Amino acid sequence: MLTGSPIGVFDSGIGGLTVFRSIVERLPAYDYLYLGDNGRAPYGNRSFNTIHQYTWECVQWMFKQGCPLVILACNTASAKALRTIQRQDMPRSHADKRVLGVIRPTAEVIGTYTQTKKIGVLGTKGTVQSGSYLLEIARFFPHLEVFQQACPLWVPLIENGEYNKPGADYYVQLYLDQLMQQSAGIDTILLACTHYPLLQDKIKAHLPANIKVVAQGDIVAASLTDYLHRHPEMEQRLSKTGDRRFYTTMDDTPEFNSHASQFFGSEIISSFVDVREGC
Ligand code: DGL
Repeated sequence: MLTGSPIGVFDSGIGGLTVFRSIVERLPAYDYLYLGDNGRAPYGNRSFNTIHQYTWECVQWMFKQGCPLVILACNTASAKALRTIQRQDMPRSHADKRVLGVIRPTAEVIGTYTQTKKIGVLGTKGTVQSGSYLLEIARFFPHLEVFQQACPLWVPLIENGEYNKPGADYYVQLYLDQLMQQSAGIDTILLACTHYPLLQDKIKAHLPANIKVVAQGDIVAASLTDYLHRHPEMEQRLSKTGDRRFYTTMDDTPEFNSHASQFFGSEIISSFVDVREGC
Protein backbone atom coordinates (compact mmCIF):
# COMPACT_ATOMS: atom_id res chain seq x y z
CA MET A 1 0.00 0.00 0.00
CA LEU A 2 1.17 3.51 -0.86
CA THR A 3 1.02 6.50 1.41
CA GLY A 4 -1.59 9.18 0.83
CA SER A 5 -5.15 8.98 -0.47
CA PRO A 6 -4.94 9.61 -4.20
CA ILE A 7 -7.78 9.86 -6.69
CA GLY A 8 -7.71 6.67 -8.77
CA VAL A 9 -8.21 6.92 -12.52
CA PHE A 10 -8.81 3.62 -14.28
CA ASP A 11 -8.88 2.62 -17.93
CA SER A 12 -8.62 -0.64 -19.84
CA GLY A 13 -5.35 0.75 -21.20
CA ILE A 14 -3.71 4.01 -22.16
CA GLY A 15 -6.70 5.80 -23.69
CA GLY A 16 -7.90 6.99 -20.29
CA LEU A 17 -4.86 9.23 -20.15
CA THR A 18 -6.71 11.63 -22.49
CA VAL A 19 -9.31 12.02 -19.71
CA PHE A 20 -6.69 11.96 -16.94
CA ARG A 21 -4.83 14.81 -18.62
CA SER A 22 -7.91 17.04 -18.49
CA ILE A 23 -8.54 16.10 -14.85
CA VAL A 24 -4.96 16.92 -13.81
CA GLU A 25 -5.02 20.23 -15.71
CA ARG A 26 -8.18 21.25 -13.90
CA LEU A 27 -7.39 19.83 -10.45
CA PRO A 28 -3.57 19.84 -10.18
CA ALA A 29 -3.26 19.88 -6.38
CA TYR A 30 -4.53 16.35 -5.75
CA ASP A 31 -2.52 13.11 -5.72
CA TYR A 32 -3.40 10.67 -8.49
CA LEU A 33 -2.89 7.01 -9.23
CA TYR A 34 -3.51 5.91 -12.84
CA LEU A 35 -4.04 2.23 -13.63
CA GLY A 36 -4.23 0.86 -17.18
CA ASP A 37 -5.26 -2.78 -17.59
CA ASN A 38 -3.19 -3.05 -20.78
CA GLY A 39 -2.37 -6.69 -20.09
CA ARG A 40 -6.03 -7.56 -20.75
CA ALA A 41 -7.09 -4.72 -23.09
CA PRO A 42 -8.98 -4.02 -25.25
CA TYR A 43 -12.23 -4.43 -23.34
CA GLY A 44 -14.42 -3.21 -26.22
CA ASN A 45 -15.49 -6.61 -27.61
CA ARG A 46 -15.51 -8.57 -24.33
CA SER A 47 -18.56 -9.95 -22.50
CA PHE A 48 -20.37 -8.23 -19.67
CA ASN A 49 -19.07 -10.77 -17.11
CA THR A 50 -15.45 -10.45 -18.19
CA ILE A 51 -15.52 -6.65 -18.20
CA HIS A 52 -17.12 -6.63 -14.77
CA GLN A 53 -14.59 -9.09 -13.35
CA TYR A 54 -11.55 -7.25 -14.77
CA THR A 55 -12.83 -3.83 -13.75
CA TRP A 56 -13.72 -4.91 -10.23
CA GLU A 57 -10.29 -6.52 -9.75
CA CYS A 58 -8.63 -3.28 -10.80
CA VAL A 59 -10.89 -1.12 -8.63
CA GLN A 60 -10.19 -3.31 -5.57
CA TRP A 61 -6.47 -3.02 -6.22
CA MET A 62 -6.79 0.77 -6.35
CA PHE A 63 -8.74 0.76 -3.09
CA LYS A 64 -5.91 -1.27 -1.52
CA GLN A 65 -3.43 1.38 -2.63
CA GLY A 66 -5.42 3.92 -0.61
CA CYS A 67 -7.72 5.49 -3.24
CA PRO A 68 -11.02 6.47 -1.58
CA LEU A 69 -12.39 7.62 -4.97
CA VAL A 70 -11.94 5.91 -8.34
CA ILE A 71 -12.97 7.32 -11.72
CA LEU A 72 -13.65 4.77 -14.46
CA ALA A 73 -12.33 6.81 -17.40
CA CYS A 74 -13.15 3.86 -19.67
CA ASN A 75 -16.52 4.08 -21.44
CA THR A 76 -16.80 0.32 -21.90
CA ALA A 77 -16.19 -0.32 -18.18
CA SER A 78 -18.57 2.52 -17.26
CA ALA A 79 -21.22 1.02 -19.55
CA LYS A 80 -20.85 -2.60 -18.52
CA ALA A 81 -19.41 -2.76 -15.00
CA LEU A 82 -20.12 0.45 -13.07
CA ARG A 83 -23.71 -0.25 -12.09
CA THR A 84 -22.90 -3.74 -10.72
CA ILE A 85 -19.88 -2.40 -8.85
CA GLN A 86 -21.87 0.46 -7.30
CA ARG A 87 -24.98 -1.53 -6.44
CA GLN A 88 -23.74 -5.04 -5.75
CA ASP A 89 -20.01 -5.15 -5.00
CA MET A 90 -19.27 -1.98 -3.05
CA PRO A 91 -22.09 -2.08 -0.46
CA ARG A 92 -20.72 -5.49 0.63
CA SER A 93 -17.13 -4.54 1.23
CA HIS A 94 -16.27 -0.92 0.43
CA ALA A 95 -19.28 1.17 1.44
CA ASP A 96 -17.02 4.11 2.46
CA LYS A 97 -15.46 4.45 -1.03
CA ARG A 98 -16.83 5.80 -4.31
CA VAL A 99 -16.53 4.79 -7.95
CA LEU A 100 -17.74 7.18 -10.66
CA GLY A 101 -17.98 6.70 -14.43
CA VAL A 102 -17.89 8.89 -17.53
CA ILE A 103 -21.28 8.21 -19.09
CA ARG A 104 -23.54 10.05 -16.70
CA PRO A 105 -21.52 13.31 -16.59
CA THR A 106 -21.41 13.29 -20.37
CA ALA A 107 -25.13 12.60 -20.70
CA GLU A 108 -25.89 15.48 -18.33
CA VAL A 109 -24.43 18.09 -20.70
CA ILE A 110 -24.36 16.68 -24.23
CA GLY A 111 -27.80 18.09 -25.06
CA THR A 112 -26.47 21.63 -24.66
CA TYR A 113 -24.19 21.23 -27.70
CA THR A 114 -26.84 20.49 -30.33
CA GLN A 115 -29.15 22.83 -32.26
CA THR A 116 -30.86 20.15 -34.36
CA LYS A 117 -31.50 17.89 -31.32
CA LYS A 118 -29.81 15.02 -33.14
CA ILE A 119 -26.52 13.69 -31.89
CA GLY A 120 -24.23 10.88 -32.91
CA VAL A 121 -22.38 8.68 -30.40
CA LEU A 122 -19.24 6.84 -31.47
CA GLY A 123 -17.95 4.09 -29.17
CA THR A 124 -16.74 0.53 -28.86
CA LYS A 125 -19.06 -2.38 -29.66
CA GLY A 126 -19.55 -2.95 -25.92
CA THR A 127 -20.51 0.65 -25.19
CA VAL A 128 -22.92 0.84 -28.14
CA GLN A 129 -24.54 -2.55 -27.45
CA SER A 130 -25.05 -1.72 -23.77
CA GLY A 131 -27.42 1.10 -24.76
CA SER A 132 -26.13 3.08 -21.75
CA TYR A 133 -25.83 6.38 -23.63
CA LEU A 134 -29.36 6.05 -25.04
CA LEU A 135 -30.76 5.48 -21.55
CA GLU A 136 -28.73 8.14 -19.75
CA ILE A 137 -29.18 10.87 -22.39
CA ALA A 138 -32.95 10.21 -22.46
CA ARG A 139 -33.08 10.91 -18.71
CA PHE A 140 -31.60 14.40 -19.09
CA PHE A 141 -32.69 15.32 -22.64
CA PRO A 142 -35.79 13.29 -23.49
CA HIS A 143 -36.36 15.15 -26.78
CA LEU A 144 -32.95 14.37 -28.24
CA GLU A 145 -32.54 11.81 -30.99
CA VAL A 146 -29.39 9.74 -30.46
CA PHE A 147 -27.74 7.71 -33.22
CA GLN A 148 -24.97 5.28 -32.30
CA GLN A 149 -22.13 3.77 -34.29
CA ALA A 150 -19.58 1.20 -33.09
CA CYS A 151 -16.07 1.73 -34.48
CA PRO A 152 -14.29 -1.56 -33.64
CA LEU A 153 -11.22 -0.90 -35.77
CA TRP A 154 -10.34 2.51 -34.33
CA VAL A 155 -8.89 1.29 -31.00
CA PRO A 156 -6.50 -1.21 -32.69
CA LEU A 157 -5.41 1.53 -35.14
CA ILE A 158 -4.62 3.86 -32.26
CA GLU A 159 -3.02 1.20 -30.05
CA ASN A 160 -0.71 0.30 -32.93
CA GLY A 161 0.34 3.89 -33.54
CA GLU A 162 -1.37 4.08 -36.96
CA TYR A 163 -3.82 6.83 -36.05
CA ASN A 164 -1.97 9.69 -37.73
CA LYS A 165 -1.00 7.76 -40.86
CA PRO A 166 -2.85 8.06 -44.20
CA GLY A 167 -4.29 4.50 -43.92
CA ALA A 168 -6.35 5.61 -40.92
CA ASP A 169 -8.41 7.95 -43.13
CA TYR A 170 -10.20 5.01 -44.76
CA TYR A 171 -11.45 3.68 -41.41
CA VAL A 172 -12.37 7.13 -40.13
CA GLN A 173 -14.48 7.73 -43.23
CA LEU A 174 -16.02 4.24 -43.03
CA TYR A 175 -17.62 4.65 -39.60
CA LEU A 176 -18.49 8.34 -40.03
CA ASP A 177 -20.39 7.45 -43.22
CA GLN A 178 -22.25 4.69 -41.36
CA LEU A 179 -23.19 7.16 -38.62
CA MET A 180 -24.21 10.03 -40.90
CA GLN A 181 -26.32 7.70 -43.06
CA GLN A 182 -28.53 7.16 -40.02
CA SER A 183 -29.63 10.82 -40.03
CA ALA A 184 -28.72 13.84 -42.13
CA GLY A 185 -29.56 16.18 -39.23
CA ILE A 186 -26.81 15.15 -36.81
CA ASP A 187 -24.92 18.31 -35.79
CA THR A 188 -22.98 16.97 -32.76
CA ILE A 189 -20.82 13.88 -32.50
CA LEU A 190 -19.69 12.56 -29.13
CA LEU A 191 -16.41 10.65 -28.96
CA ALA A 192 -17.59 8.11 -26.37
CA CYS A 193 -14.31 6.24 -26.14
CA THR A 194 -11.11 7.19 -24.37
CA HIS A 195 -9.01 6.60 -27.49
CA TYR A 196 -10.93 8.57 -30.09
CA PRO A 197 -9.60 12.05 -29.18
CA LEU A 198 -6.37 10.95 -30.88
CA LEU A 199 -8.34 10.72 -34.14
CA GLN A 200 -10.13 14.01 -33.54
CA ASP A 201 -8.29 15.98 -36.24
CA LYS A 202 -8.95 13.32 -38.85
CA ILE A 203 -12.59 13.00 -37.75
CA LYS A 204 -13.09 16.77 -38.10
CA ALA A 205 -11.39 16.78 -41.49
CA HIS A 206 -13.89 14.20 -42.77
CA LEU A 207 -16.96 16.11 -41.56
CA PRO A 208 -18.63 19.37 -42.64
CA ALA A 209 -17.36 22.31 -40.56
CA ASN A 210 -20.76 22.89 -38.88
CA ILE A 211 -20.68 19.52 -37.09
CA LYS A 212 -19.31 19.69 -33.55
CA VAL A 213 -17.02 16.91 -32.37
CA VAL A 214 -17.08 16.58 -28.59
CA ALA A 215 -14.41 14.78 -26.54
CA GLN A 216 -15.09 13.87 -22.92
CA GLY A 217 -11.96 14.94 -21.04
CA ASP A 218 -13.09 18.45 -20.13
CA ILE A 219 -16.64 17.31 -19.39
CA VAL A 220 -15.42 14.64 -16.94
CA ALA A 221 -12.94 17.04 -15.32
CA ALA A 222 -15.68 19.67 -14.79
CA SER A 223 -18.00 17.05 -13.37
CA LEU A 224 -15.35 15.79 -10.93
CA THR A 225 -14.71 19.37 -9.78
CA ASP A 226 -18.41 19.77 -9.14
CA TYR A 227 -18.59 16.40 -7.33
CA LEU A 228 -15.76 17.40 -4.97
CA HIS A 229 -17.54 20.69 -4.18
CA ARG A 230 -20.73 18.84 -3.39
CA HIS A 231 -18.97 16.16 -1.32
CA PRO A 232 -16.62 17.87 1.16
CA GLU A 233 -16.52 14.65 3.22
CA MET A 234 -14.77 12.96 0.25
CA GLU A 235 -12.74 16.02 -0.75
CA GLN A 236 -11.20 16.23 2.74
CA ARG A 237 -10.09 12.60 2.61
CA LEU A 238 -8.00 13.15 -0.54
CA SER A 239 -4.29 13.87 -0.21
CA LYS A 240 -2.92 16.93 -1.99
CA THR A 241 0.81 16.85 -2.68
CA GLY A 242 0.63 16.91 -6.48
CA ASP A 243 1.89 13.30 -6.72
CA ARG A 244 1.15 11.25 -9.92
CA ARG A 245 1.77 7.49 -10.15
CA PHE A 246 1.25 5.27 -13.15
CA TYR A 247 0.65 1.51 -13.12
CA THR A 248 -0.02 -0.99 -15.86
CA THR A 249 -0.87 -4.69 -15.96
CA MET A 250 1.35 -4.98 -19.06
CA ASP A 251 4.77 -6.47 -18.22
CA ASP A 252 6.47 -4.45 -20.98
CA THR A 253 6.50 -1.12 -19.13
CA PRO A 254 8.86 0.68 -21.58
CA GLU A 255 6.30 0.00 -24.35
CA PHE A 256 3.55 1.37 -22.08
CA ASN A 257 5.64 4.41 -21.17
CA SER A 258 6.32 5.34 -24.76
CA HIS A 259 2.68 5.03 -25.93
CA ALA A 260 1.27 6.49 -22.74
CA SER A 261 3.48 9.59 -22.94
CA GLN A 262 1.87 10.40 -26.34
CA PHE A 263 -1.63 10.11 -24.88
CA PHE A 264 -0.78 12.08 -21.74
CA GLY A 265 1.31 14.77 -23.41
CA SER A 266 4.32 14.47 -21.08
CA GLU A 267 6.75 11.76 -20.00
CA ILE A 268 5.38 8.82 -18.04
CA ILE A 269 7.29 6.26 -16.02
CA SER A 270 5.09 3.36 -14.98
CA SER A 271 5.32 0.25 -12.79
CA PHE A 272 3.99 -3.21 -13.57
CA VAL A 273 1.33 -4.62 -11.26
CA ASP A 274 -0.60 -7.90 -11.03
CA VAL A 275 -4.03 -6.75 -9.83
CA ARG A 276 -5.24 -10.33 -9.24
CA GLU A 277 -2.87 -10.80 -6.30
CA GLY A 278 -4.97 -10.86 -3.17
CA CYS A 279 -8.33 -10.42 -4.97
N1 DGL B 1 -11.13 2.43 -22.93
C1 DGL B 1 -12.11 1.89 -23.85
C2 DGL B 1 -13.33 2.80 -23.89
O1 DGL B 1 -13.30 3.97 -23.56
C3 DGL B 1 -11.53 1.72 -25.24
C4 DGL B 1 -10.46 0.67 -25.32
C5 DGL B 1 -10.94 -0.75 -25.09
O2 DGL B 1 -11.74 -1.26 -25.89
O3 DGL B 1 -10.51 -1.32 -24.10
O4 DGL B 1 -14.38 2.35 -24.29
